[in-house]
Amino acid sequence: VQFSDSQSASLEVAAEIAALIREKAANNEPCVLGLATGSSPIKVYDELVRLHREEGLSFKHVTTFNLDEYHPMTRENIQSYHYFMHEHLFDHIDIPAQQINIPDGQVKTEDLHQYCLGYEEKIQQAGGLDFQLLGIGRTGHIGFNEPGSHYNSGTRMITLDYITRVDAAPSFLGIENVPRKAITMGIATVRSAKRVVLMGWGQHKAEIIKETVEGTIDSHVPATYLQDHPNCTFVLDDEAASEL
Ligand code: GLP
Repeated sequence: VQFSDSQSASLEVAAEIAALIREKAANNEPCVLGLATGSSPIKVYDELVRLHREEGLSFKHVTTFNLDEYHPMTRENIQSYHYFMHEHLFDHIDIPAQQINIPDGQVKTEDLHQYCLGYEEKIQQAGGLDFQLLGIGRTGHIGFNEPGSHYNSGTRMITLDYITRVDAAPSFLGIENVPRKAITMGIATVRSAKRVVLMGWGQHKAEIIKETVEGTIDSHVPATYLQDHPNCTFVLDDEAASEL
């Protein structure tokens, strides 16, 4: 779906999430959301906070799983996704802390394998992802599933692409400060969501959006693995859709 600007598009995405939360609450069912970081989802989170404050949208029965986190990374670090999520969403809504899940950037390397399996298990135990929100990196990554990621990959540690680290450099005040690794949900984890919405804003996303939507399904552009998801929508502004 194409919108003239990211603001109106973000309101639509937030409205869909709010409707899902209310529907699940009305049926007394848990609502499990997969959440993303980066600049793309910020306006969606702003609107969810507004709906909470002004229209009583409650997150008491919502469980969230974030896609990824840098490694190594402390929670307190302002560049952490942990910090980002609290700043933009969690500190402003009524979600119980124990229902928030974000990969832990401080897990010891020797414990990582077990930790990642545990993250997958937690998603299953929560009932699976009802909705997964995504942005896209210029490498075609979703979460931090860089080129080469397999379609059946699960949560794991990955090595970040050079382009991804270049894109992250400004917020880290230099590429030398950008971590080389991250923990990310896998392609299979993302694809297991019952509903997937990928957002792309701006001219700098136009080329990778074209490859993602029109290219052959291939691990060189991991986002192409969404093409055959049964319930996935790309929400784009005019600029991001300009090469289609
Ligand atoms: C990071 C995140 C991705 C995100 C991407 C794009 O790499 N791990 O989940 O999609 O950035 O960021 P932005 O939305 O700022 O363009």
